[in-house]
Amino acid sequence: MVVHLVGAGPGDPELITLKAVKALEKAEVVIYDRLANEEILKHAPNAKLIYVGKKAGEHYKTQEEINEILVNEAKTYDEVVRLKGGDPFVFGRGGEEVLALHEEGISVDMIPGVTSAIGVPTTAGLPVTHRGVATSFTIVTGHEDPTKKEKQVKWDYTADTIIVLMGIGQIKENTQEMMKYRDPKTPVCIIENGTTPKERIVIGTLDNISEKDINTPAILIVGNVVDVYQKMKN
Ligand SMILES: C[S@@+](CC[C@H](N)C(=O)[O-])C[C@H]1O[C@@H](n2cnc3c(N)ncnc32)[C@H](O)[C@@H]1O
Repeated sequence: MVVHLVGAGPGDPELITLKAVKALEKAEVVIYDRLANEEILKHAPNAKLIYVGKKAGEHYKTQEEINEILVNEAKTYDEVVRLKGGDPFVFGRGGEEVLALHEEGISVDMIPGVTSAIGVPTTAGLPVTHRGVATSFTIVTGHEDPTKKEKQVKWDYTADTIIVLMGIGQIKENTQEMMKYRDPKTPVCIIENGTTPKERIVIGTLDNISEKDINTPAILIVGNVVDVYQKMKN
């Protein structure tokens, strides 16, 4: 028994690794999330499919329930794939699943994925670093667990580019916090449904982006690389 913890990439079903496709082809069970493009499942035509996707605020399965399903399936089948959107270890709770499986003596094979944090801007033509403009980037969650006693996200990051995942629900609060440390006119780019036919790009600045109409999933890219992106488009 082995569980392959597989990154499905950011949305475009072709942005999956060859190694992931090979694991899917021999899978007996695939346990997958909402964000993983379902077209990817065609690589596992004979597998039992278990959907455990979650939506913000409306949990279909708790993380504990998902861990339990993983353990039970791994004890029943030899080849189990756990498919997660983007990369399993970038805000994917992959680490918790590995710990739960190890506790039961089940081995895990890690197969990384293209994270939306970088794959979405790159596909749109927005470089997260650029010579003379940005030498560093930070990837941060815009939605911290509200039950945490103390906030870990302080928004005082020194990186040139800030990439915010899960940042739409609290965009007003988050941009206000960022403006304590950055010029309110800092350019911001939002990419909705990146790498898919539904991709939509909205440009603004820290002081006005929260007024725009945005759908999810979306990421925010904050910093002068957004100006570089605008120039590269022309
Ligand atoms: C729970 S996190 C999972 C991230 C994933 N593990 C990864 O590496 O991309 C979900 C967030 O990723 C971002 N996201 C995922 N897919 C996206 C896409 N196709 N376009 C824009 N943002 C996306 C959004 O910010 C969304 O709220």
